[in-house]
Amino acid sequence: MKYRRCGRSGVLLPEISLGLWHNFGADDDRAQNAAIIGRALELGICHFDLADNYGPPPGSAEERFGSLLQQEFAGHRDEMFISTKAGHLMWPGPYGDWGSRKHLIAGLDQSLRRLKLDYVDVFYHHRPDPDTPIEETVEALVQIVRSGKALYVGLSKYPAALFNRACALLTEARVPCLLHQFRYNLLDRSCEAGMLPAAKDQGTGSIVFSPLAQGMLTGKYLGSPALPAGSRAQRSDSPFLDADKVAADAARVAALQEIATEAGIPLTQLALRWLLQRSGVTSVLIGARTVAQLEDCAAAAGQPPLSDELMSRLN
Ligand SMILES: NC(=O)c1ccc[n+]([C@@H]2O[C@H](COP(=O)([O-])OP(=O)(O)OC[C@H]3O[C@@H](n4cnc5c(N)ncnc54)[C@H](OP(=O)(O)O)[C@@H]3O)[C@@H](O)[C@H]2O)c1
Repeated sequence: MKYRRCGRSGVLLPEISLGLWHNFGADDDRAQNAAIIGRALELGICHFDLADNYGPPPGSAEERFGSLLQQEFAGHRDEMFISTKAGHLMWPGPYGDWGSRKHLIAGLDQSLRRLKLDYVDVFYHHRPDPDTPIEETVEALVQIVRSGKALYVGLSKYPAALFNRACALLTEARVPCLLHQFRYNLLDRSCEAGMLPAAKDQGTGSIVFSPLAQGMLTGKYLGSPALPAGSRAQRSDSPFLDADKVAADAARVAALQEIATEAGIPLTQLALRWLLQRSGVTSVLIGARTVAQLEDCAAAAGQPPLSDELMSRLN
């Protein structure tokens, strides 16, 4: 594994980080989860990304990870960089969602209980809140760091202008934003118009999610059957990728697969290496359902750069 400095900070992050949005819910196999975390650590993937609502059901990924930490990986806490987030719907009533101080403070306390931790390394506001003043959200993040419940704070999916404002307020309070987290992959480059350059300008790190477009950029949906058994698009408990989305992107994925075949590099590797070569990307945040998938993705780290010609064809 190679490590990259996270903006203007003391933190190094692995080129490949592991997210627990999927595959670590209550019904997922615990032994398989333990094997994935154990192999990740062996491979130098020391950053684990969670959120309060990951599962399903919401909360269960933190519970699973907390139980694994306590029972299988006790003694390894200081080798790990663990993040969680609040800002999506978690409990009923007016305080269970968005970006108020009330929601963020209570949300993190619940997360720490599920994770069985005293503090996380990064706490994120998970998404911008159009109705809460940004000053209140930022003050909550500052309070959280001052209380010792998180070492650093991050923001997720903030449009550039709001991100810049939040960073200015955080810097004023001497709790600089460590990381911005947003979607970036060969099929979705919208962050290039705002979030990516803003993070570079602010001197924060950028950690980019869904680098394989939730699996589409492995090419596995190009074959027959169109939705392989057990895949995210085929599972009914995963509403975020379905047959329609797969069909909508099939032509672009097929074109990328052709480039990968000609280059003699598997599409998964090409998609991850392309991201690692984009200026401003600190870490590429993958998901893995099996140890083999994790190993496949980890192999993209530390590779020689793709040629200019290949990069421009992909672009
Ligand atoms: N801040 C946010 O709002 C936000 C939003 C989304 C994600 N995230 C973070 O980003 C992380 C990663 O997102 P993601 O899961 O969408 O990432 P991804 O890497 O684009 O997709 C991961 C999925 O692709 C498939 N896959 C991965 N490697 C494969 C391989 N070698 N061969 C075949 N299939 C492979 C697996 O799905 P199958 O089940 O099909 O095998 C795997 O679960 C999340 O866990 C979360 O931490 C954050």
